[in-house]
Amino acid sequence: MAQKTKVKTLYVCSQCGYESPKWLGKCPECESWNTMTEESRVTVSGSAGRSISAPPAALPSEVRSLEAVSADESVRYKTGMRELDRVLGGGIVPGAAILVCGDPGIGKSTILLQMCGTIQRDLRILYVCGEESMRQVKLRANRLGVDGGNILMTASTDAEQLHETILQNKPDLVIVDSIQTLSIRSISSSCGSVTQVRECTQLLMNVCKSSEIPLFVVGHVNKDGGIAGPKVLEHMVDTVLYFEGDRNLSYRILRSIKNRFGSTNEIGVFQMEEGGLHEVENPSEMLLAGRPLDVSGTCITCLMEGTRPLLVEVQALVAKTSFGNPRRISTGFDYNRAALLIAVLEKRAGYFMGNLDVFLNIAGGMRIDEPVADLAVVLALVSNLVDRPIHSKLLALGEVGLTGEVRSASHVAQRVGEAYRLGFDTFVLPRSNLRHIDQSQFPQATFYGVSNISEAFRAIQK
Ligand SMILES: Nc1ncnc2c1ncn2[C@@H]1O[C@H](COP(=O)(O)OP(=O)(O)OP(=O)(O)O)[C@@H](O)[C@H]1O
Ligand SMILES: [Mg+2]
Ligand SMILES: [Zn+2]
Repeated sequence: MAQKTKVKTLYVCSQCGYESPKWLGKCPECESWNTMTEESRVTVSGSAGRSISAPPAALPSEVRSLEAVSADESVRYKTGMRELDRVLGGGIVPGAAILVCGDPGIGKSTILLQMCGTIQRDLRILYVCGEESMRQVKLRANRLGVDGGNILMTASTDAEQLHETILQNKPDLVIVDSIQTLSIRSISSSCGSVTQVRECTQLLMNVCKSSEIPLFVVGHVNKDGGIAGPKVLEHMVDTVLYFEGDRNLSYRILRSIKNRFGSTNEIGVFQMEEGGLHEVENPSEMLLAGRPLDVSGTCITCLMEGTRPLLVEVQALVAKTSFGNPRRISTGFDYNRAALLIAVLEKRAGYFMGNLDVFLNIAGGMRIDEPVADLAVVLALVSNLVDRPIHSKLLALGEVGLTGEVRSASHVAQRVGEAYRLGFDTFVLPRSNLRHIDQSQFPQATFYGVSNISEAFRAIQK
């Protein structure tokens, strides 16, 4: 059959991968502006008229009954880092495609290279360093104390070449740092473009899935924290890990946004040090280290990150407004939620802040999105307003409603247990939760069950 090559110009949204034959100012799919970029696509009609990542021929596919498919859950490779294993859902599943993304310099390459250090004892690893030279990777490996002959490296950025390399070398694990540096020569758009990123990922995933090789792919994020290039990447892979943290602070949090093989609530906490990332076994202790004692305007609450309780400090500062409009500034806590709690305080408890600036901060750069922290926010605000410190071993839990009621929280026993372990002895909890607590387990503790915020204020004055 005669082959005809056709070049088609089309416009692709760099955010979501939406394709359109003509340029558009606004993407109809994800509604972002100015994201349509021009790409040309070469199609070959005739016998070879297939996309690059499609299977070679139309042979009948293998059919198997669900029963006959083996699914041995026990086969998970341990990464040697418990925090990472936890986030992955207990280890790496053979054949899984895992996308690791995060801000520049957050430590994506570091965590993967450190993982190689342990894994290479049992598995052969192919490390694709498109981003850095092999020398740079070697220098980092030296700094992290990673060595071993089981780590194969390649600096190739040609996805088809890598496809062949994987088929030939048959590694047990592939790491690509980063997907934005790979390209397929027959696709004319530049590397990092939606089409390239998608096709390269697909190509590598095909070969890795068929040989049950786990594939780690590093992806960059753009200014607003989305995965640069296509959102489609998120749909393609099995697991999306997000590495985040404040660049000025040394700790980093690894979250899974999507996981086909585990829970997405789990987090891993690491600390960045000279010798690489260290696991933090006791994040609560770390977050509370160096907190001020006997100062008004701080209160401790407990969040649940997956199955793990995490103590955090809520700080509030209420100061006289020097300009006309009082300011409300909230860091790490939802702004509207803060405004709501301030209004509840005024209306239901008579604490007026109409001519006062209010600043809220969650210490350590943490972000709170659980309503269970409401009570701590309210207590911290009032503590600072009346300038009376809250007992430093007090933990407050509970959601505050519009009538000033304190509503029940989930996982109370676990949260209280964590705080008790760290020496907390006074607990202000929703009254409805109190009966779920076996108080004999906490012999040194005092419990206050409160049903509204006024009762909570009386409790902290005792
Ligand atoms: N000599 C060093 N001592 C201590 N920390 C270092 C040292 N060199 C690098 N780091 C830390 O490692 C971080 C860089 O980590 P890494 O290269 O893994 O990040 P990345 O997420 O892969 O970045 P990129 O997106 O640029 O590839 C730096 O931000 C720094 O905190
Ligand atoms: Mg890197
Ligand atoms: Zn779009």
